[in-house]
Amino acid sequence: MITEDIGSAIRALEENKVVAIPTETVYGLAGNAYEDKALRKIFEIKKRPHYNPLIVHIKAAEALCDVAEDIPKKAVQLAEAFWPGALTLVLKKKSHIPNLVTAGKNTVAVRVPSHKLTLQLLDGLAFPLAAPSANPFGSISPTSAEHVFSYFKHHLDVILDGGACEKGLESTIIGFEGQTPILYRRGAIALEAIEKVIGKVAIHKNSADKSPEAPGMLSRHYAPNTRTILVENLTQFLKTTPNERIGVLSFQNKVENISVAHQEVLSPDGNLEEAARNLYAVLHRLDHLNLELIIAQKFPKKGLGLSINDKLRRAAEKRIKN
Ligand code: TXA
Ligand code: MG
Repeated sequence: MITEDIGSAIRALEENKVVAIPTETVYGLAGNAYEDKALRKIFEIKKRPHYNPLIVHIKAAEALCDVAEDIPKKAVQLAEAFWPGALTLVLKKKSHIPNLVTAGKNTVAVRVPSHKLTLQLLDGLAFPLAAPSANPFGSISPTSAEHVFSYFKHHLDVILDGGACEKGLESTIIGFEGQTPILYRRGAIALEAIEKVIGKVAIHKNSADKSPEAPGMLSRHYAPNTRTILVENLTQFLKTTPNERIGVLSFQNKVENISVAHQEVLSPDGNLEEAARNLYAVLHRLDHLNLELIIAQKFPKKGLGLSINDKLRRAAEKRIKN
């Protein structure tokens, strides 16, 4: 059921059910972060491997000490600067955080979301919410209640409808090695903005697909079913490509004088925030057009352009055949 009624979401969560919740980044698949029964359901519905830990959503920065300890000074500065907001901190966990949340690690990922409905929801609950993005593992993240419904249909009792997500990209994830901050996942807050607050941040080297520190870094992720490629120069590429039913995703301009089946421009004004907000909705749309190929243009290599390129690169990873 898609609803705006917080009461029904609260009741369902108190019964250890899984509820889809709106956040400013993407929709989440939420359950009681302290109850294994609810946590198991999240993994089951999402078909998510258990090695991939969940983000815990708390109602305010003051609640951070309920879930984490030994918090580095720079983490406190980031929380002060960006919460409520699209920043997730990976910190040493309190011992009572279930292993299902953290995939057995001694760290927990935590953030205060900034969506009004979800903050009200958290305020009405006696527990924080563990929530991955509300999409089946490996597919495009949802930025509307309808996206969530199209994935899970009636398997979810409650989809709390908070409208289209304001940011449209997942939260940026920062972890620490000692006191040194490390970027685990690019997301809705540009690295430049983070470095303005805490100085230089190291970039985590994405290694194997097996048990990465932040599996948002799994190479094939956020992927449409339609084959997708990412190119530097759209016009040049289109001149040589033989495919007939092509969809084009570009930043600012349409491609002229070349026949393609469908074109999507993410921000005619060249605004990276707007492009980020539209990205997943556009990928969802393109993926439902029965195209042979989606060709995406690389974004400017600064600010949220780097986050968008990162998501597009993963969408374009070749499918591993088995
Ligand atoms: O914007 C978001 O972050 C959304 C909304 C719903 O809050 N959530 C989200 O969750 O994107 P999910 O599960 O799709 O991605 C969470 C990422 C994963 O890449 C996971 O590996 C990483 O966070 N993560 C969680 N706990 C971690 C930990 N202890 N150490 C390192 N990475 C962690
Ligand atoms: Mg996800």
